[in-house]
Amino acid sequence: MTKIAVFRQPSQILESSIRHNKENDITGMLLYAGGNFLQVLEGESDCITETFQRISIDPRHHNIIEIINNPIPEREFSQWSMGFHQLTQEQIHGFPDSALFVDFDVDAQSIKARPGLALGLLRDFRKNCR
Ligand SMILES: Cc1cc2nc3c(=O)[nH]c(=O)nc-3n(C[C@H](O)[C@H](O)[C@H](O)COP(=O)(O)O)c2cc1C
Repeated sequence: MTKIAVFRQPSQILESSIRHNKENDITGMLLYAGGNFLQVLEGESDCITETFQRISIDPRHHNIIEIINNPIPEREFSQWSMGFHQLTQEQIHGFPDSALFVDFDVDAQSIKARPGLALGLLRDFRKNCR
């Protein structure tokens, strides 16, 4: 799982993500709020490593924080090559813990200290994804 900042050309990012992820049998979801991304990638370890490295050097964003890197028994976001949802202001306010991810000055230590929070946010907004 990775946390990514700065949002530009969302449709191009999604188009390219979906294309590559289909080729690599990767599934996942991307949330966007307040200038920051929260993303989960699921797939074979080698594919995830290669994809994460490619995303890491993408100049369209910076300050990536890797929150969780775990083997999983089964995929939770298998319906999307890369699902996407942009949180509304209402949703941000209705979900107080989302402030950790939405703040401009994201604190890596606080986020890494509560990995379940990131997964919880992604699970909660799964139903909003397209
Ligand atoms: C926030 C964000 C999320 C991304 N997610 C993915 C992804 O899930 N899979 C992927 O292959 N590329 C993803 N990318 C794009 C890669 O960084 C990179 O631009 C792309 O793989 C390059 O391939 P292309 O030149 O064929 O478009 C993401 C980029 C950004 C900024």
